[in-house]
Amino acid sequence: MKGSHVAITGVEKYFGDFHALKSVSVDIKKGEFYSLLGPSGCGKTTLLRIIAGFEDPSSGAVLLDGQNVVPVPANKRPVNTVFQSYALFPHLTVFENVAFPLRLRKMENAAVKTKVQEFLELVKLPKEGKKLPAQLSGGQRQRVAIARALINEPSVLLLDEPLSALDAKLRQHMLIELDAIHDKIGITFIYVTHDQQEALSVSDRVAVMNEGEVVQVGTPFEIYESPSDPFVAHFIGETNYIGGTVTEVIGDKHAKVDFPDIGSLFVYQDKPLAVGDKVKVTIRPEKIRISSDKPSALGDQMNLLEGGVDELIYSGFQSKFFVRVSERATFRVFRQHVKFFMDEKAINWKDRVFIWWNDNDGYVVEVEKP
Ligand SMILES: Nc1ncnc2c1ncn2[C@@H]1O[C@H](COP(=O)(O)OP(=O)(O)OP(=O)(O)O)[C@@H](O)[C@H]1O
Ligand SMILES: [Mg+2]
Repeated sequence: MKGSHVAITGVEKYFGDFHALKSVSVDIKKGEFYSLLGPSGCGKTTLLRIIAGFEDPSSGAVLLDGQNVVPVPANKRPVNTVFQSYALFPHLTVFENVAFPLRLRKMENAAVKTKVQEFLELVKLPKEGKKLPAQLSGGQRQRVAIARALINEPSVLLLDEPLSALDAKLRQHMLIELDAIHDKIGITFIYVTHDQQEALSVSDRVAVMNEGEVVQVGTPFEIYESPSDPFVAHFIGETNYIGGTVTEVIGDKHAKVDFPDIGSLFVYQDKPLAVGDKVKVTIRPEKIRISSDKPSALGDQMNLLEGGVDELIYSGFQSKFFVRVSERATFRVFRQHVKFFMDEKAINWKDRVFIWWNDNDGYVVEVEKP
């Protein structure tokens, strides 16, 4: 594997009095596709700039394959960056843009030609070499920027929201291509985004950041299914987030919890719990079933509630329902339109409905001991 192992240990960054990064430590494996995900202003670009060498940390270290590179200037690090704006030279052809880093190294012409062609092929622009950046689409321009960033064969590629200037469909497409490029060249990718769909769809692992801190690191599956922090539960996807008190611990994986205004529900838990603990639970809207008919023969530990449809949003592939189960409690529920003909009764605004879900689909995020 050509990629580097990247270890960031205890990095702090102050801009004057402002504490932009708070003891950030992450460990990125050789060849990993690793994403930094978080809302605007949480410190993603700052962390990336510290890895690239455009910014010094106030304290802490950045280790590439075990060597601290903090004293090493940016242009001497085996790291390259693709930015949000394409930053191509407008007066140079696509070929010369990609060739630029090789020209700086005074590589001889014939070798430049072969190498640039190889990288234009990698980003699927084999015939566009003679064009100027202005003659390309946004997606094509960003591919030129990627080819230019890769041509010196860095061991780490940093990508700072490289697709955010593109429309949603093209972004999807470019993401798949980026993933293919990553698979092909096998170096370490560190990908910054505030778009959770983007991060979940391509990353090996994701670090979720909030206000200068890394709050959870995990695979996309772990981040989505078992958030370890209330911020992560809310930031990734939509959810129902409710608080209650444990009334019974069932085996080592389940509990019964009393929720004010809702009643008693079965939940999944992987933390040491005791009766009387206050817990916060997340239940994803797509895990909840909804019907105007009462379901028959539900298992022992299924949760069933009855309510009225307060609001309903149709969006083609699915409908989103806001189901009021009491004066003060509302659940959001998604129903996928999987069949061409509706095999279930249509549900309308103000209808009485039943909602139900499995005990395993309510996940305990936070525990507070009394
Ligand atoms: N040079 C600087 N001087 C002062 N404050 C800065 C500087 N650079 C960044 N900041 C502040 O640090 C915080 C983190 O900025 P950063 O650019 O890393 O955020 P980000 O997560 O990349 O956000 P976005 O998603 O909007 O790009 C912000 O509050 C920003 O205002
Ligand atoms: Mg940024």
